[in-house]
Amino acid sequence: MFKFFNANPFEEKQECLLIGLKDTPEKFSGILSELDAKFENELTELVKSGDISAKVKEISKIHTLGKLNVKRLLFVGLGKENQLSFDDVKEAFGKAFKHAKESRLQSVAIALDTFVTDAISHEDAANALSEAFALATYEFAGYKQKSNEPEKMVEQINIISETDQNEIEAALTVGYAFGKATNSARTLVNLPGNMLTATDLAQYAEELGGKYEFEVEILEKEEMEKLGMGAFLAVNQGSVEPPKMIVLKYQGKDTWEDVIGLVGKGVTFDTGGYSIKTKSGIVGMKTDMGGAAAVLGAMEIIGELKPEQNVVAVIPSTDNMISGSAFKPDDVITSMSGITIEVLNTDAEGRLALADAVTYAKHHGANYLVDVATLTGGVITALGLDKTGAMTNDEAFFEQVLEASYEAGEYIWRLPITENDKKRVRGSKIADLNNSPGSEGHAIMGGAFVGEFAEDTPWVHLDIAGTAVTSKEHDLGPYGATGVMVRTLALLVERFEPVK
Ligand code: BES
Ligand code: ZN
Ligand code: ZN
Repeated sequence: MFKFFNANPFEEKQECLLIGLKDTPEKFSGILSELDAKFENELTELVKSGDISAKVKEISKIHTLGKLNVKRLLFVGLGKENQLSFDDVKEAFGKAFKHAKESRLQSVAIALDTFVTDAISHEDAANALSEAFALATYEFAGYKQKSNEPEKMVEQINIISETDQNEIEAALTVGYAFGKATNSARTLVNLPGNMLTATDLAQYAEELGGKYEFEVEILEKEEMEKLGMGAFLAVNQGSVEPPKMIVLKYQGKDTWEDVIGLVGKGVTFDTGGYSIKTKSGIVGMKTDMGGAAAVLGAMEIIGELKPEQNVVAVIPSTDNMISGSAFKPDDVITSMSGITIEVLNTDAEGRLALADAVTYAKHHGANYLVDVATLTGGVITALGLDKTGAMTNDEAFFEQVLEASYEAGEYIWRLPITENDKKRVRGSKIADLNNSPGSEGHAIMGGAFVGEFAEDTPWVHLDIAGTAVTSKEHDLGPYGATGVMVRTLALLVERFEPVK
């Protein structure tokens, strides 16, 4: 896939050479000045006239008409060098790879050094390149009957750079692992509910565990009954599909301490139950396992890169269905922790599933917890579709999650949980908690509820209801599942320092 060349790119035949073009008033340097010379300063003229654009993420293509071994030059604008961020570079690569894919190119050479700035090292550029390549060229195959036309894919990327090959190759490996794992999560989320049941998700997790030698535990309904997981089991009560509590353990330290628990909501379809969703609100609820997908994606990266950390992933998986046996509003259920819950809304099922999963993660020794869930429509009202909502009970641990999210380019924004909010979730007359304390501050109510089960364990809640899916194509992927939080979780684990 990725091949490194120290050589002059013009010595080998290349289908296409990708060049990052900065908006610098001075003369070209490096490979660009070489090219300019070969074209008798015509390149300078084309940039001046705007035929080749240096505007951020703008693509310009010229054919070399047999003048060079390289058939086409593909320029991607990088704008002003001092304003260029790591995310811009990643998106610029994304845009260029999308263009290459649409142009049916099979091989692309890249002048890596043209993407380097004072703030963005060669390794950063290589990392951005390989991650962007995986992300931008991702496609969900879907179920349309295929035409006979074979799809051409970009299969070969030739990296041309004057720096150290080993470091570049290491950065390429990491970026590609991040991109591929995000794509795995995207595929899980894009799969329809009839193609991905809790049993299917458990099987996927088992295969992942086999590949990376994780310890795998899949709890069946009977075992969960014995453990008293009444909150999670209530959600499954109306379903013909068996529930699964999926556990993956990765031990990267000598001893099982400072364990990070990653908990992901794995509702494979959410009808809302008897508090049924509207006919438009129900469409898209196959994506209600986006949290589970994020956790599994992060585990894939952890399996590939093997950080010196301990991680336990816990995924409660079921669908939320309606039948004569389904749970109902007014039911009172008892969670594994012993906390009793009055069900006021069967559509607030995610927090019930997470309640037992959080308790079970602690049971497996998790000292730090991050839960990821498509939990509330309220987070979309509060923050829109481009920010993940975050809540926490621990400032220092939250800082680490925030740092990881910045580095991943996945934005999170914190919402508070006040004493008053806690009072509201504790506001049942007949049980310890109620699962739906009213329509004000929905997102916070969801977080505050899960927080009751985290108790004193440092915990961050990530509500991805707005960010798990996008209705628009973007530079780093198509419309549909985004794979959000895969990279944030993986970076958090990689960089994690115990806070207590
Ligand atoms: N799965 C939904 C949240 C959701 C909404 C995800 C839109 C993706 C897009 C969740 O289970 C839910 O229905 N939440 C309710 C909670 C309410 C009943 C307290 C909501 O947000 O409306
Ligand atoms: Zn729901
Ligand atoms: Zn849900």
